Amino acid sequence: MSQCRTAVISALLPANVAAAERFGDFSGTLLKEEREALGSAVPVRQMEFAAGRSCAREALQILGAPEHPILRGANREPIWPEGVVGSITHCRGYCAAAVAYADRVPTLGIDAEIDEPLPDGVLPLIARKEEADGLLVCGSAFQRNWDRLLFSAKESTYKAWYPITDRWLDFDEVRVDINPQRNSFDVTILRPSCSEVSLLRFAGRYLIQRGLILTAVAAQSS
Ligand SMILES: CC(C)(COP(=O)(O)OP(=O)(O)OC[C@H]1O[C@@H](n2cnc3c(N)ncnc32)[C@H](O)[C@@H]1OP(=O)(O)O)[C@@H](O)C(=O)NCCC(=O)NCCS
Repeated sequence: MSQCRTAVISALLPANVAAAERFGDFSGTLLKEEREALGSAVPVRQMEFAAGRSCAREALQILGAPEHPILRGANREPIWPEGVVGSITHCRGYCAAAVAYADRVPTLGIDAEIDEPLPDGVLPLIARKEEADGLLVCGSAFQRNWDRLLFSAKESTYKAWYPITDRWLDFDEVRVDINPQRNSFDVTILRPSCSEVSLLRFAGRYLIQRGLILTAVAAQSS
């Protein structure tokens, strides 16, 4: 795993996570099985899918795992090789994948967003009351698009949560507490009936750079 820390997004992830990313250039290739899994799609979607899969295969190589087609599950989640967890993200001008061995990192999620405010009316749909209040406090200390960062933190959380639970998560079932001094956030899953007690908390980190908001969450083995 010698080159695994060269990706910018690696700064947000534990040391035993391998990551690969692309800025601007969305070139990439698909293995035959991956092409079949995508089916017909508009060219832009084909490009982002190929870029994501290419990053994913590069990250697997860095991790030391054998090359493997990364297919798609019933809910669009990437299917990783046995014993591996991972996550993919793409937005305009950026694409990344991160992978780790599941016995070291039980699950992880990454997300990239353009660094701009959410469209009008979206914040109340994705934020709990206490989160919206928290953003005002963050805003008094630092000028950031905190609403977009909150959204990204929840997207990262969902990508870490879904593969190990097979369950949908509503935006109001998650509480994100942002710590602007540490560029980090704590995630609490607020599901009274949730039996996966060990999954109730994730640690998250964020980075705002090159016009992008990057977030990542990872659960660590206890
Ligand atoms: C799935 C979702 C999180 C993707 O996020 P996005 O910002 O739209 O797009 P991104 O480019 O960052 O991520 C897309 C990648 O996420 C991954 N993904 C999609 N569904 C997934 C799932 N169920 N579980 C894990 N990863 C998933 C895929 O790898 C996908 O890329 P690919 O189709 O090229 O393989 C989003 O579309 C979604 O459905 N959100 C609603 C659920 C949610 O976020 N709830 C929040 C609860 S706190």
